[in-house]
Amino acid sequence: MKLLVTGGAGFIGSNFIRYVLTTYKEWTVVNLDKLTYAGNLENLVDVAQGASADRYRFIRGDIADRALVEEIFSTGFDAVINFAAESHVDRSIDNAHVFIQTNVLGTQVLLDSALRHKVQRFVQISTDEVYGSLGPEGYFTETTPLAPNSPYSASKAGADLLVRAYYETFRLPTIITRCSNNYGPYQFPEKLIPLFITNALHDQPLPLYGDGLNVRDWIYVEDHCAAIALILERGRPGEVYNIGGNSEKTNIEITRAILHRLGKPESLIRYVTDRPGHDRRYAIDSSKLQRELGWAPRYDFATGIDRTIRWYLENTAWWQRIKTGEYLDFYNRWYGNRI
Ligand code: NAD
Ligand code: DAU
Repeated sequence: MKLLVTGGAGFIGSNFIRYVLTTYKEWTVVNLDKLTYAGNLENLVDVAQGASADRYRFIRGDIADRALVEEIFSTGFDAVINFAAESHVDRSIDNAHVFIQTNVLGTQVLLDSALRHKVQRFVQISTDEVYGSLGPEGYFTETTPLAPNSPYSASKAGADLLVRAYYETFRLPTIITRCSNNYGPYQFPEKLIPLFITNALHDQPLPLYGDGLNVRDWIYVEDHCAAIALILERGRPGEVYNIGGNSEKTNIEITRAILHRLGKPESLIRYVTDRPGHDRRYAIDSSKLQRELGWAPRYDFATGIDRTIRWYLENTAWWQRIKTGEYLDFYNRWYGNRI
């Protein structure tokens, strides 16, 4: 199978490319990525230089660039997996414009070219955040109404509706996946887990929003990648599949798990002004995927977080290079008045 993977230089996309090139020896991948602040070719050095290098090609470019996208599609693909996105909720609160440009318009550009070139699978990597926030009970299912609360999740919901429309109107064989919070190697250190691991390693404060009792469902990134590959192969066009880790945790539980494993004191925790519009709880019912395709997560949280912490300990140069320049500009602007 010949795949076009967009956003493959980011966290989940790079893990996905590594996973499929290792698992499926016949598959080839073209990775289209703009290399924004979150895109990093260091995430794929082993792929670009390793045993599967001849089945991998990188193209730097924007998914919203119609002419470029059309030129790339004219080389022919069996499937598109669209990871490319602005992905950080806090940045969408800081400035929403690029979220609409990439997440909504960029997705529409890809859909047009996929349709024109009769691509056999278009997998849109969406998020459980499109469903909004849960109370203390219950789970998101694939039929939960969309109720996004941040500019980020609104842009992802907008893209989902376009993807749905291209199936209903044109019968483009699209599938939407909605996964919960990922963690693991190569996650950009602006997200909760890598931010807190790397801050703790430098004995810097850990800025916990609100009362620290917001709940997320955590999934180890490799489990997410395995689910996407299965859905790509055997998922039904026109369907939505939820993906989750069966691992609900409050943010304070996550924080303590990290500090405990690193042997760092709880005095590093700073309760700071809450994120505006902060969703209280996410919990996901992925029984459709489990029932239809036989998928189940392989990593429990204790195993996944141990592996993740070990990776950040063994790859200090990777995150220390990132935590400079533009990273610090955003960090100081966003957290400056909070900590
Ligand atoms: P990320 O921010 O780490 O990576 C995003 C990648 O997209 C980067 O490599 C970036 O350079 C690229 N990109 C951004 N704009 C682009 C554009 N206009 N054209 C081409 N490339 C562009 O994000 P991630 O955490 O790996 O998330 C990947 C996808 O998965 C996103 O669509 C996100 O909404 C979704 N998702 C993420 C999570 C999570 O927990 N991280 C959970 C569910 C779904
Ligand atoms: O649920 C899937 C989503 O998970 C993805 O669609 C997003 O791309 C991804 O960024 C993630 O969104 P969250 O907002 O849940 O992730 P984040 O790591 O930013 O925050 C996780 C929780 O931790 C959330 O309740 C906010 C809290 N938090 C986060 C940061 C960055 C803090 O308390 N302090 C922080 O400094």
